[in-house]
Amino acid sequence: IATGGQPAEQAAEQAVARPERRPTARTVLMCRPEHFTVVYRINPWMNPAEPTDTGLAVAQWQVLHDTFVGLGYDVQLIDPIEGLPDMVYAANGGFVVGGIAYGAKFTYPERQPEGPAYMEWFREAGFDVREPVEVNEGEGDFLLVGDAILAGTGFRSDSRSHEELAAIFGREVVTLRLVNPSFYHLDTAVAVLDPTPGQEHIAYLPSAFDEASVALLQARFPDAIIVNEADAAVLGLNSFSDGYHVVIASRATDFERQLREHGYHPIGVDLSELLLGGGGVKCCTLELRR
Ligand code: ARG
Repeated sequence: IATGGQPAEQAAEQAVARPERRPTARTVLMCRPEHFTVVYRINPWMNPAEPTDTGLAVAQWQVLHDTFVGLGYDVQLIDPIEGLPDMVYAANGGFVVGGIAYGAKFTYPERQPEGPAYMEWFREAGFDVREPVEVNEGEGDFLLVGDAILAGTGFRSDSRSHEELAAIFGREVVTLRLVNPSFYHLDTAVAVLDPTPGQEHIAYLPSAFDEASVALLQARFPDAIIVNEADAAVLGLNSFSDGYHVVIASRATDFERQLREHGYHPIGVDLSELLLGGGGVKCCTLELRR
């Protein structure tokens, strides 16, 4: 009793029936960071004055790639293009569901040539490509959860792209407004842990959103994992889950514990070099859904 409520809390946590977590097969697109560097600044993480180590970026990325392969994922690769140092962040290359690939139209001129490059890859891979009219940064801001799409705006994707998204995919689109420039893409502030309809589960950082968006998230996902500021600040939420294995930033230690408590199997990787560009695990990963 003198030690406080901790053991009782833990017992209560264990008493709660957790759904059984199951992995499902994933197909992802990645881009080897052969030309990675930081020569411009389009988010607060980037500092062109700070040196980057392309070899280290490639080595860390390779660990992520091999982790996905080891988990049995089908990992596809797009050729990196010289002069497009952010192309490694494949999540921004589009949004792909049911064989339809909605192309990206980047906010900043530095990344704009990536849009057509990714669309060309989708076309060659047999996807039904939809050219974007509105500014959007693909799966960086759009996340499939159940039958709905969570869509971020505030820094990158224009809210008009949310309407375009709804029209193309015929799905409910839930607009969420980001307010902290360090969490400029939705996938830096929300992690989809289980997208399966009927058992949707996410983790998020409330302070990254305006009040109305937090209310929406609370109402929709009452059992969500709330991640702390420290874990979010190492892009812990920028993770990739297959419904059981969750590949996360190894420095996000509290999030790792929370995931275990919720029945997941977290796998930590170190992408410190790619963090210099403002990206983590999820940014390097675009899910391809046929
Ligand atoms: N330097 C890139 C940018 O600012 C990083 C993109 C990170 N990608 C992501 N899905 N959050 O556009």
